[in-house]
Amino acid sequence: MEISTALLILTAITAYLLWFTFISRSIKGPRVWPLFGSLPGLIENCDRLHDWISDNLSACGGTYQTCICAIPFLAKKQGLVTVTCDPRNVEHLLKTRFDNYPKGPTWQAVFHDLLGDGIFNSDGDTWLFQRKTAALEFTTRTLRQAMARWVNRAIKDRTHKLVRLGYQKMASPRLSTKPLKASLQRFILPEVMWKFKKWLRLGMEVSLSRSLVHIEKYLSSVIDKRKLELLSQPKDGNPHDDLLSRFMKKKQSYSDSFLQHVALNFILAGRDTSSVALSWFFWLTIQNPRVEEKILREIYTVLIETRGDDVAKWVDEPLSFEEVDRLIYLKAALSETLRLYPSVPEDSKHVVADDVLPDGTFVPAGSSVTYSIYAAGRMRSTWGEDCLEFRPERWLSQDGKKFIMHDSYKFVAFNAGPRICLGKDLAYLQMKSVAAAVLLHHRLVVAPELKVEQKMSLTLFMKHGLKVNVYHRDLKGIIASIKKKREEEINGNEFLDVNKE
Ligand code: HEM
Repeated sequence: MEISTALLILTAITAYLLWFTFISRSIKGPRVWPLFGSLPGLIENCDRLHDWISDNLSACGGTYQTCICAIPFLAKKQGLVTVTCDPRNVEHLLKTRFDNYPKGPTWQAVFHDLLGDGIFNSDGDTWLFQRKTAALEFTTRTLRQAMARWVNRAIKDRTHKLVRLGYQKMASPRLSTKPLKASLQRFILPEVMWKFKKWLRLGMEVSLSRSLVHIEKYLSSVIDKRKLELLSQPKDGNPHDDLLSRFMKKKQSYSDSFLQHVALNFILAGRDTSSVALSWFFWLTIQNPRVEEKILREIYTVLIETRGDDVAKWVDEPLSFEEVDRLIYLKAALSETLRLYPSVPEDSKHVVADDVLPDGTFVPAGSSVTYSIYAAGRMRSTWGEDCLEFRPERWLSQDGKKFIMHDSYKFVAFNAGPRICLGKDLAYLQMKSVAAAVLLHHRLVVAPELKVEQKMSLTLFMKHGLKVNVYHRDLKGIIASIKKKREEEINGNEFLDVNKE
């Protein structure tokens, strides 16, 4: 090698190292390495990614910046990721400067084949139109109907049978998680690389395109069927007022492909999120017999008032909308589950224009901001010293009689601001109904061989599912104990009243 070439290489390496030293000192957060940035740490911690992010955020006071590739010009632009769980920053991203933080081009490109321009994968007018149309489908009236029509039917026809087969199978989807996993893989590679892989039909791209064919076939049959039903529907008959029909009845006619994406986005939004939350809920409840006891006592107390003391009537029919509505301790336990194990653990936004976050962090245009929903639920600064404890009481008023919802920028499990989850109330209704039905009929014991680990995915799945042994719950004896407790309470009150006089 000529001396001049060697000198040139040496100068380039020295200049790079000087630049790298400067850049790595200017960003706080996990250690960054030459060229690979924070990728080695990410790979090393991939089995406990969310806890790793949470630890980093705790150590950095709620926000840090890191680069995923330490290359000049990229490191402070597309390669820069700001990670935060500071409620002030979360509010700024999701509400105050909503327009400056869309999903953005990287997210949209990666998921376009699967989600199209559906609500999850769109910004601006396309998103707003779908949001407004769909919002009409999430009213209290629709919730009551949903309960009567299919939540209770699903509990009767499927839940109890499936519980005996193992809980996680309850989600038994027509749609596997393969296409989501394959789309997610695209994030790891630069856009040109995964597009090249797609063109050559290599690796996960093959399984993605195969899954897309199946999904399209299934959804087009659903849409064709609904079209026929809408055409043959008598003018004075019961109109279809479900979500899909709402989009199909709009004046402008939408392509089948758009309608398919609308349907798929809603199926994906509501399916795994609720079932995964229930897995964590049952696991936490089994570990905390005191909480299980309180949940059961609440269900029994409601049922004894609405259905009397014949326990056969308790299990005859699933709980009604009004009965479920009264289960506030159960709602608190589900919220506490979602605080510690949010179904969507991390979410990300693209930065349109340079900005400064409320905590003073500068975020350059073209970079991205990840808000860690998982970490937000585990910060001592927000939730206190017992932040890692499962304590549903933190969601109740002091007298324990009212459910208190925490600020949506501290408890971000359902997102917040204009893009807050549309299905939040429906999700609570479904989860409360299923949880109450399962616990009323069955006593669950975690299988001894079960190793509880988190799966690295967009949704916080249990890696090995939730394996439980299922026993029949004996309701005899419960009535007597509740009656006794009530008598004691009444006598206690009478004693207080007499004393008052
Ligand atoms: C425990 C259950 C659930 C949780 C934890 C949850 C959480 C979330 C989160 C974090 C988002 C924001 C996602 C993002 O923008 O990247 C979201 C959005 C959304 N969720 Fe849920 N969700 C749940 C159940 C449901 C259900 C049952 C439905 C009903 C179909 C639903 C419908 C939606 C829709 C349509 C959006 C998109 C809203 C928009 O972008 O404007 N979700 N949800």
